[in-house]
Amino acid sequence: MAAYEYETHTYDAIVIGAGGAGLRATLGLAEQGLKTACITKVFPTRSHTVAAQGGIAASLGNMGPDSWQWHMYDTVKGSDWLGDTDAMEYLAREAPKAVYELEHYGVPFSRTEEGKIYQRPFGGHTTEFGEGPAVQRTCAAADRTGHAILHTLYGQSLKQQAEFYIEYFATDLIMSEDGQCQGVVAWKLDDGTMHVFNAKTTVLATGGYGRAYFSATSAHTCTGDGGGMVARQGLPLQDMEFVQFHPTGIYGAGCLITEGARGEGGYLTNSEGERFMERYAPNYKDLAPRDYVSRCMTMEIREGRGVGAGGDHIHLNLNHLPAEALNLRLPGISESARIFAGVDVTKEPIPVLPTVHYNMGGIPTNYHGEVLNPTAKDPTAVVPGLMAVGEAGCASVHGANRLGSNSLIDLVVFGRAAAIQAGKVVDRDAPNPVLNQASVDAAFDRFDGLRHADGDTGTAELRLEMQKTMQADAAVFRTDKTLKDGVEKMTAVAAKMDGIKVTDRSMVWNSDLMETLELTNLMPNALATIVGAEARKESRGAHAHEDYATRDDENWRVHTLSNIDGTQVDLSYRPVITKALTTEKQGGISTKKIAPKERTF
Ligand code: FUM
Repeated sequence: MAAYEYETHTYDAIVIGAGGAGLRATLGLAEQGLKTACITKVFPTRSHTVAAQGGIAASLGNMGPDSWQWHMYDTVKGSDWLGDTDAMEYLAREAPKAVYELEHYGVPFSRTEEGKIYQRPFGGHTTEFGEGPAVQRTCAAADRTGHAILHTLYGQSLKQQAEFYIEYFATDLIMSEDGQCQGVVAWKLDDGTMHVFNAKTTVLATGGYGRAYFSATSAHTCTGDGGGMVARQGLPLQDMEFVQFHPTGIYGAGCLITEGARGEGGYLTNSEGERFMERYAPNYKDLAPRDYVSRCMTMEIREGRGVGAGGDHIHLNLNHLPAEALNLRLPGISESARIFAGVDVTKEPIPVLPTVHYNMGGIPTNYHGEVLNPTAKDPTAVVPGLMAVGEAGCASVHGANRLGSNSLIDLVVFGRAAAIQAGKVVDRDAPNPVLNQASVDAAFDRFDGLRHADGDTGTAELRLEMQKTMQADAAVFRTDKTLKDGVEKMTAVAAKMDGIKVTDRSMVWNSDLMETLELTNLMPNALATIVGAEARKESRGAHAHEDYATRDDENWRVHTLSNIDGTQVDLSYRPVITKALTTEKQGGISTKKIAPKERTF
């Protein structure tokens, strides 16, 4: 066993990650008097949630009629009927409460003339169960909503005496022999010390794995660390084949231009100056859901109507909007367009291209945030002591495609739900678990093995190979051939992990080692994505399969579970939950209303 000295810390609850979901969970746990620590590899207010722009969905009805039932319907349809109905109901019902809590915590939302929270339209959010016009449901703090939420939640968590371990990289879960999570091992990046966190409950809030792709709106820190940790324990990941492309990443740079830009009246044009979305989605046009808009943009480019010298992107027009409105509602993206595309949005269109933005799949959970390890005997079996929230988790509210602004609300609703559930199941008076030393030792051995890895492939080189393969073969449109090739290539890429080379053996600020640890997390996420995609013989949401153009509910309305071991991915499936929490008589939504049908806009 590798010999490292370490410090042991004991908590009721630990949260790994300090984005919106991690901070909302931390705050909720600490508010209930649980001894809580948040362990984060970046300073909390630098977490990727800070980049969330357009807003947070909740049926407040501040700008016109709305209801949680309409929000739920849109989420069900947006998910292309792959979301779990109980979780989607919970999200839509709890959303207004969760947003008003944020307001009371101090989030500086933009305001209407009457002083209410300002709400803007976003793709796929409608009225009258998809029969009425678009609704203004997305609550915004200009186009810096994530920034506003993150700073507020961090301040509130400190006020509640939550403890923060900042720039600590959690390397592995500690599991008891009978499968209970007991905490994590972590490496303190700035002084090289090692730490063992013993906790009655561990909440993974580590975000997505956008950096498995070459071009992503995600921060470079989005490396699927939670998914990697879970996969290494032989636990499954769920629905990994569903990867969302945001229609408007800046061409070349990949930075996000919020959907709020189209919500405020922006529109897309092709090389003929045509507002082509009117042709594809006559009702909702540029405000159709983002999987659909991304596909339409890609088709325009393929058919020779892309803009620019290479005809390989699309224009987003905002220059018809008043400069004051751009300044008030979209100051952040006006700046991003200037810096990253050299464009003055008051005068010229922004060059944009669909760019990887969000992972619908992740660590399977129930709607309380408890991690699932479904078995044939018990499909609802949970992993004691382990929870997952936010983009790391898969509740599953987004199914095959997430609606814009349903991510921030997912973070706070399920961060809060996990805290509430932990408050019920954690016995404050019980002693902490006796740590399984074999599991601790295994984590140190793995760390040491990577620190001294002396193969022939550098981390950056292998990461790039993975990113290019994923970008080419698990793209907006997929075919049997691209996916089969992609599986072969990704299997070969993943096999090269055994020959990884780390050149820096030091313990302090060793970014070579940290990026290698991150790559060990990205790799199983990427592999499960392409293997799951290759197996799914239908088109649904973000999984647009050209050889199987339609959705196949009879055979494929199921969640994919992937168990990953090195280069081997074993797939199994579990049914989608179709039962709502409440019936129509109890004020819920009628089952007829949310029965599967064709998804048109
Ligand atoms: O377009 C955006 O502002 C992104 C929002 C989201 O992904 O929910």
